[in-house]
Amino acid sequence: MSVSHKPVMINEVMDALVPRDGAIYVDATFGAGGYSRALLEAADCTVWGIDRDPLAVEFGRDMAHEFGGRLSVVKGRFGQMREILSAVGVTQVDGIALDIGISSMQIDDFTRGFSFRADGPLDMRMDNGSDDPTAADIVNSMKEHDLANLIYDYGEERASRRIAREIVRLRKKGPIERTEQLARVIRHVVRRSNDGIDPATRTFQALRIYVNEELIELDQGLAAAEKLLRAESRLAVVSFHSLEDRRVKTFLLERSGQRPRPSRHMPDSRRSFYPTFRLVKRGAVKPKETEISLNARARSARLRWAERTAQRPIQVA
Ligand SMILES: C[S@@+](CC[C@H](N)C(=O)[O-])C[C@H]1O[C@@H](n2cnc3c(N)ncnc32)[C@H](O)[C@@H]1O
Repeated sequence: MSVSHKPVMINEVMDALVPRDGAIYVDATFGAGGYSRALLEAADCTVWGIDRDPLAVEFGRDMAHEFGGRLSVVKGRFGQMREILSAVGVTQVDGIALDIGISSMQIDDFTRGFSFRADGPLDMRMDNGSDDPTAADIVNSMKEHDLANLIYDYGEERASRRIAREIVRLRKKGPIERTEQLARVIRHVVRRSNDGIDPATRTFQALRIYVNEELIELDQGLAAAEKLLRAESRLAVVSFHSLEDRRVKTFLLERSGQRPRPSRHMPDSRRSFYPTFRLVKRGAVKPKETEISLNARARSARLRWAERTAQRPIQVA
């Protein structure tokens, strides 16, 4: 099976995780296994890879043969990584990497429907073997008002109302089932901006986030990581757009007790007194220009990482 994904910010992620012998790491977005390979080559450690995409898991299981039992790849959502790992007897780990979003293999395979650069079925499910609704199901059934909100909230698209109206007008004539059909509808109502970004970009992003419940997964994944990580172990998260990066930033600021303190008349929850993470480096790490020149996809990547303290996680309902 051929894989074409170049791991993003791999040196920075390894610097954050500091691979060491005997440790257990989780590569919670396995993809083409770039991070797993780097961890396994840097130390005599064990890696658990997780991916919801059946093809990534199949590839990972082939790759596992190279590492003589030190790599195992499991199919599932990282939002459920605690349950996934506890089923194989792992309850505490020494480092977790999350590289949020989709892989080059997913976007470049037009039959998966993530891309508007060529025609394909409007699918967009990372787990395309599941019976979850596809992007076409959403586009053809959601109420106009909800569709507009989805495109606005998850795509940060200002023309969301016009796009939703046009989708609803056209779907009355027949279902929108292909990526090219949808891209044409969007390009008809939104002009190409001066920055050259295709007008379909934001709506496709919105649908992908919705179809895969990506923000819910991210919140659940961060909370699961807090519970799985041993004291002094590290969490490294690479994200590719502001909606995700803001969530990671907020989570880490909150869990490290660095959110602005409320007034003494209205004290905060107990979080600021019991930080579960220590922000070793404030702010996001950006990719080097040399990496961006070799891999344009790296341009928008942001890495945030933090170290687990010994505090027990606060139980949140
Ligand atoms: C950007 S790629 C990761 C690439 C990987 N770091 C590498 O170097 O090859 C993201 C991968 O995460 C997977 N993924 C995204 N969201 C997921 C989730 N909630 N649970 C499990 N896997 C997920 C995707 O299917 C995709 O294969």
